[in-house]
Amino acid sequence: MHIGVDYYPEHWPRERWETDARMMAEAGFNIVRLAEFAWVLLEPSEGQFDFDWLDDALAVLARHGIEAILGTPTAAMPGWVARKYPETLAMQKDGTRITWGARKNNCFSSGTFRLLSERITRAMAEHYRDTPNVIGWQTDNEFGHPVCYCDSCRAEFQAWLRRKYGTLEALNATWGTHFWGHVFGTWDEITIPDDPNRHNPSACLDWQRFYSWLNVRFQDDQIRILRAACPNHFITHNFMGLFHELDYYELAKDLDFVSWDNYPVWGKPAIPYNAAAAADVMRGLKKRNFWIMEQTAGPGGATEYGRNPRPGEIRKIAFQQVAHGADGMIWFRWRTCTTGREQYWHGLLGHDGKGLRRYQEAAQTASDLHKIAAALQGTTVRAPVAIIYDYDSIWALRIQPGYAGNRFHADLERYYQALLRAGVNVDMIRPIDDLSAYRAVLAPDLYILPDGMARALSNYVQGGGVLLADSRTGVKTETNLCHERTLPGLLSDALGVTIEEYESLGDPTGPQGFSYRIIGREALTGEFTGIRTAEWARATTAQPLATYEEWHMRPYVAASRNQFGEGYGYFVGTVAQEERFYDLLIADLLRHAGVTAPLAPPPGVEVSVREGDGKTLLFLLNHTDTAQRVRVPRGKVELLSGETTGDTWTLDRYGVAVIRWV
Ligand code: GLA
Ligand code: ZN
Repeated sequence: MHIGVDYYPEHWPRERWETDARMMAEAGFNIVRLAEFAWVLLEPSEGQFDFDWLDDALAVLARHGIEAILGTPTAAMPGWVARKYPETLAMQKDGTRITWGARKNNCFSSGTFRLLSERITRAMAEHYRDTPNVIGWQTDNEFGHPVCYCDSCRAEFQAWLRRKYGTLEALNATWGTHFWGHVFGTWDEITIPDDPNRHNPSACLDWQRFYSWLNVRFQDDQIRILRAACPNHFITHNFMGLFHELDYYELAKDLDFVSWDNYPVWGKPAIPYNAAAAADVMRGLKKRNFWIMEQTAGPGGATEYGRNPRPGEIRKIAFQQVAHGADGMIWFRWRTCTTGREQYWHGLLGHDGKGLRRYQEAAQTASDLHKIAAALQGTTVRAPVAIIYDYDSIWALRIQPGYAGNRFHADLERYYQALLRAGVNVDMIRPIDDLSAYRAVLAPDLYILPDGMARALSNYVQGGGVLLADSRTGVKTETNLCHERTLPGLLSDALGVTIEEYESLGDPTGPQGFSYRIIGREALTGEFTGIRTAEWARATTAQPLATYEEWHMRPYVAASRNQFGEGYGYFVGTVAQEERFYDLLIADLLRHAGVTAPLAPPPGVEVSVREGDGKTLLFLLNHTDTAQRVRVPRGKVELLSGETTGDTWTLDRYGVAVIRWV
């Protein structure tokens, strides 16, 4: 298993390199990522390359058995690039260019920048193709910034639209430009539509798609070069989990595997649900395991720093990712830097360079991971439940949230957390994916719903699947026009409801916010509070699971279950304030889907299963700072301790266990 750190030899005197490499090897590390911001050191002036220092660093690392991933260094352009070619700097909204001096400041449509990026990529690839301890590449660093408003980007946008729509008539029709007299007579009349408060929503969505495409194309330029020069190396990129400016499915498409940067330690200790959800998104991009390219090593921050991971937390955070499919673990960063913007982004070593607690805990983690590496081989998460994770809907909702505070990820969280509390693994999938692999599919905020997708979901339910949909389902076409249908449109039969009207209940914490009382029945028995949104949804064939108490809302369901064909369609028409609402709803849904969790974890304990190759591994993660006793399958081996399980297993605070179940 590949375990190591992000290392910046260029930040330290050469005399230190040997010590660093030795300490890494002593910690059980065998990989580093190098050079992703070192462009100016590798190409000090245009076309003049200097690889000597990196060659030497690689040689030192090689002597200690450490391999390397090299970053194409295009995320930090040299000063000479900005000086010689000012057009490579991204233009801000106000028409001025970003001042050089940070990173991620380039225009992605600049032909000059693309050529410069290709040149340094090719030079590195050719230089390192045969270096024995170089095994792979990371493209750039955390694609996603900045948005550029220059003339070249605008012209590229127009050309992209031309390729997409063919004719102006088609574009005018799809965007509905007859509204406010926005009909385009020529392609070059098209401006950059990035302000949802003023611009056409269809245009805004295409601008977002274009921006994503622009980043993907930039990466493609590098991938082409790396593949040709280094056929034996892998290529990956460090994604950012739930970040959603780019269509990550597209960005991942031509990579060998996905990596991501995980920083879940902020503020007061909490269960890192988002780190689990993000891991599932990352695994879903290519439907295969992933690496952690930057893992939390200490307090993070720029001008101010955050919380220090408690003893045990560094290990637990790493294991949470392994439990969700991580096959490589790289901590950011090795040693805390004494200079520059990230002096307070702490590594495993402090400024003093000593191998203290955080280093020792990472070494312990490395030793644990090496111990279970053989068992992990060939295993991944095979979830019985999927959640649709669709960038089109995410983007379109950001353009028009509809009700106040509607964010896809906030909606996702409510269901995801309930599933995690229930001990059930989740796959994050595209709406076009094969649904038949899942007992249940949750589609929170599935706002953009092309007819084909609606039919597939409906057929899925008819054939025995269980579907959950909620407020704002199926409002839009794929070009962000409103469907001319009573909602939820083509899903009406599967869900057994018709939404006659809808309203926003405002921000529940603001002076204008209000709520509705909800009375649950059957599996949802209890009283709850509906906030933020209310669909005035009438049950046609659905069985109400919750209704409203207010006089004018009595005809409508807040939650319902509909038997349709062989399956069930669940509908939720509001946001419940109480967590318990979601726990009960998910329990009922899992029951109807025939899904049982491997075990019932106590609060604060997460369970995740990796399987494959005839093996089933049960991961237990204690996210709390008190010991937890968990009922587990008896007579199995816990791989980290080598002990055999009884009826229960006790996890220390922040403890982890890996039980070989089968
Ligand atoms: C990101 C970047 C790193 C570093 C860390 C910490 O994840 O990829 O280069 O900046 O954040 O700030
Ligand atoms: Zn530009």
